[in-house]
Amino acid sequence: MQIKFKELTLNNFKSHQELTVNFGERTVITGDNAKGKSTIPQAITWLLYGMDALGSKLDPTPITYEADQTMVSLLLNVDGKDLLLGRELVKGKAKYYINEVPSKATEFNEVLTEMFDKDLFLSLFNPNYFFTLNWTKQRKMILQYVSAPANKQVFKELPEAQGNKLSELVKKHSMKNLKEIHRENKNKLNKQYIAAQSRTKTLKEQLENNAPTVPLESLNAEDSILKKEIQELESVIDSAAEKNSEFNSLQSQILALNDQIEMSKERWPKLRDEKIEDTCRTCKRPLDEESIQAVEDDKSKRVDEYKAQHNEIVNKRNTLKEKLKVLEYIDVSEQRTKVRELEAKRSPLQQEMSKHKQLEGLQEQVSEAENNEKHTLLSLNESIFILDSIKDFEAKEAELQAEKVKGLFENLSIKLFKELKTSDEPQPDFEIEKDGKGYKKLSLSEGIRAGLELRNVLSEQSEVIAPVFVDNAESITKFKEPNGQLIISRVVAGKELEVKVDEQD
Ligand SMILES: Nc1ncnc2c1ncn2[C@@H]1O[C@H](COP(=O)(O)OP(=O)(O)OP(=O)(O)O)[C@@H](O)[C@H]1O
Ligand SMILES: [Mg+2]
Repeated sequence: MQIKFKELTLNNFKSHQELTVNFGERTVITGDNAKGKSTIPQAITWLLYGMDALGSKLDPTPITYEADQTMVSLLLNVDGKDLLLGRELVKGKAKYYINEVPSKATEFNEVLTEMFDKDLFLSLFNPNYFFTLNWTKQRKMILQYVSAPANKQVFKELPEAQGNKLSELVKKHSMKNLKEIHRENKNKLNKQYIAAQSRTKTLKEQLENNAPTVPLESLNAEDSILKKEIQELESVIDSAAEKNSEFNSLQSQILALNDQIEMSKERWPKLRDEKIEDTCRTCKRPLDEESIQAVEDDKSKRVDEYKAQHNEIVNKRNTLKEKLKVLEYIDVSEQRTKVRELEAKRSPLQQEMSKHKQLEGLQEQVSEAENNEKHTLLSLNESIFILDSIKDFEAKEAELQAEKVKGLFENLSIKLFKELKTSDEPQPDFEIEKDGKGYKKLSLSEGIRAGLELRNVLSEQSEVIAPVFVDNAESITKFKEPNGQLIISRVVAGKELEVKVDEQD
């Protein structure tokens, strides 16, 4: 960016009732003391920021003559584009103009801040301005405009493991994000690690408390003996049950047949006592002999049938009874009691065996917890390593940048960090020295030269070219042509104020 001053007009600004200054590449203001030389740069900074050239509030209302209003306007050229800015003060009230258009203070300020940073502009314009700033602000400005070394360059200077790790990680995240991610990770994993440790501890304690007293092999051996005994008894019980079921079925069949026999017996008296009728049931006439014989034959036939049937049931039952006689009911209640006793003996064994099973599960949980603990620790250490690497990176980056800053100055030495006694993080500091002397110790001309060198570095690094005003230039014999338009003021005894655009001094 290139900022040029073209024309400045002052109306009732301090001692100047009316003054127009035209600027060239080199503008020389001459005049005796108190002729109003220093008032000219003040008019510019007042117009832009309402301040004097060192950044203090300024009321330019004339005190030696009457005036209704104060007005300053400046025709600037920024990157080839003209801009006319004006500030007016009427009865203590400020008014603003952008290209002659009355504007609000906010609009006016916006136009300025969009163009250039106030501190940068004032530092470039007035070689003394930078030194009035607080050291942290000075340091920030220098570092802001001196670009940081490339990551790659810093990685090379780090221990290999750190450099490799970071160069891999920055492919995905910025250094700032990495720092946030791993700072959070570290906190999280720290907590997780503590939790994992206590889980392992609890599980191990459980493991100790639940340890079975009898070894699994002897439990198994004892149990299998009992199981074998039970099996043998159960096979006796099973075969008895088979035989007993035949016995039971015979017995129930006999009982059923007994019932049938009883029912048959009940039918007998009625048949036996049945009378042979000798008259017709309907007409009551006496039956002939043949008919009577037929009725008698019928009855004896039914008696024969009954007897045959009855005897058959009785015989069937008797046969079954004979069969039952050779069968024997086997009593296995003793064996059953024995089985129950044996099962009761197995129960504590099985409880102890299940403890072994639980133990296996617990052991698995313990090794899982230990694994988890190990993994958490690994990731935790990884995050710690990354954070340490970032810290070292930042220190190295600052160191390289400090070297770069130093390299930009010819006659000034810049200190950006405190002298370190420990290997702690570098502590920011800021000092500008010339031949081992701080700015405040410099003579007037030394101070101006130091200021000019500094504002030139700022101009080169920020790539903003702006005019510079060297006041009291008679006090320096020679100085390097600065970047941008040069405006100098000199005291010339007995001379009225004169502004000359001068290519040669
Ligand atoms: N508000 C004001 N109204 C009128 N005159 C003022 C006002 N403020 C300052 N002055 C006077 O303006 C005159 C010019 O001051 P200025 O600082 O510009 O002079 P100079 O040419 O830079 O002098 P020197 O060579 O001593 O640096 C001085 O006499 C000063 O007292
Ligand atoms: Mg002066």
